[in-house]
Amino acid sequence: MLRGVLEWLDDRTGVVTGVRHFLDEDIPASSGWHQVFGSIAMFGFLVQAVTGILLALNYAPTAGEAYYSLKYIVMEVTGGRLIRQLHHWGASLMIVIVALHMIQVFIWGGYKKPREATWIVGVVLLLMTLGYGLTGYLLPWDNRAYWGTVVATQIAASAPGAGPYIARLMGVVDGAIGSVTFARFYAIHVLLLPPATMALMLLHVFLVRRHGVAPLPGDEVLPKKKFYPGQVFKDTLAIFVYFAILYTLAVVARVPLERMADPTDTSYIPRPDWYFLFLFQLLKLFPGSLEMIGSIVLPTLAIIALFAAPFIDRSKMVMVRQRGFAMGLVLLAAAAWGSLTYAAVAGTPKSAHSEYDATLVEPWQHLTPKELLKPDAQAPDFAKLAARTYAKSGCTVCHVANGEGGKMGPPLNGIMFRRDRAWLEAHFIEPQKMVPGSTMPPYKFAPPEMAAMLDWLLKLPPD
Ligand code: HEC
Repeated sequence: MLRGVLEWLDDRTGVVTGVRHFLDEDIPASSGWHQVFGSIAMFGFLVQAVTGILLALNYAPTAGEAYYSLKYIVMEVTGGRLIRQLHHWGASLMIVIVALHMIQVFIWGGYKKPREATWIVGVVLLLMTLGYGLTGYLLPWDNRAYWGTVVATQIAASAPGAGPYIARLMGVVDGAIGSVTFARFYAIHVLLLPPATMALMLLHVFLVRRHGVAPLPGDEVLPKKKFYPGQVFKDTLAIFVYFAILYTLAVVARVPLERMADPTDTSYIPRPDWYFLFLFQLLKLFPGSLEMIGSIVLPTLAIIALFAAPFIDRSKMVMVRQRGFAMGLVLLAAAAWGSLTYAAVAGTPKSAHSEYDATLVEPWQHLTPKELLKPDAQAPDFAKLAARTYAKSGCTVCHVANGEGGKMGPPLNGIMFRRDRAWLEAHFIEPQKMVPGSTMPPYKFAPPEMAAMLDWLLKLPPD
């Protein structure tokens, strides 16, 4: 019966013969485990497509709304957090896999004649992978997304000649980003890049098939292998391992959602995703008027060198162990990338913002002082004690907390980003000593009340 169906299908469409032809492809005797990365990258793309579509089903793609819908996804939607974290870590791992794939091809010399075009398409695919990272970074519309993108757009806008035009294309006005930038990045991320990636991936695979997997010297005298079953098994197993790693990361490693993008929060320390950190550090090495070297010149040269690799190295294929120079280059690049990334991580001051995770805020933290005082309020004791002290001391007259109170003093929400515990305590005892000219009266709280007040204040969410 099955055979009959397959024969019918093949007769009408040729799909069975096509698949068989695809699997029966000859591959050189030297092929093996080192060639699994291309297949993993295709699988990784599939994961991003599926999780991306699932996210889009609940995501409101406009600046502002985006933040609340993502919050809804991770807090309310069944499996929402897992989907988001799969998409986030899938993107990171994609960079790793694409890099490993390219390193393998580079060390083996797989880009050589007649496979130059395959390599060039691959470099374009790498740039597109980075493009996903750049545009996707903005989409949560939290502070991290906002400020990270501000820096990225500033770098692009500093390009000599084309800078102002790039800035306009990205909807950047006076260095600030907004709804237009958001719309453009979203459109690139979901409308432009995916079909382009699919087309180029097809072309890439077609070219690999057209020229065959790159043979090494000696392969011509050895019997050829078939793609199926040996290499298919290796690829499949590698994909399983990849997915196991991705799934574990998505379950274990939390991706924070910080507070909503706040363009006035200039104290925020922007941080790009880990794979772009080295660029950040590179910028620091070229201060002032030299900045262009780090931001534009060196990256451009690196991309040109990647494209030109097959034309610079025109020698014949040799055994891998004779590719000492290529290996040296890879090691050098890895060492440069590694040390720049390390320096960036070590050199960035830890900001309170980056530790704030809006999805970790509990409902009681949003209660107004009055609501906290209700007998049936669901809140920890210290918060209730703080609310009693707060009411007794008349703080409401001058301060807003969770939307309630007077405007004589600054709103207290988000105080965690401006002040620390010691400062707050000293400020209560003698406001004028901490803020000269302050009109706030001093308060001498008993130790438990002071502790409760500080605990509660530092838990007032910024949004
Ligand atoms: C008479 C009005 C008034 C009252 C009452 C008052 N404050 Fe203030 N508060 C101010 C003013 C004005 C400032 C800004 C100057 C300063 O930082 O001292 C301020 C500053 C603060 C700050 C620092 C805010 C920041 O962003 O730096 C905190 C925290 C604070 N008040 C908490 C309280 C609490 C808690 C109470 C009640 C125990 C209280 N205040 C009572 C007027 C008041």
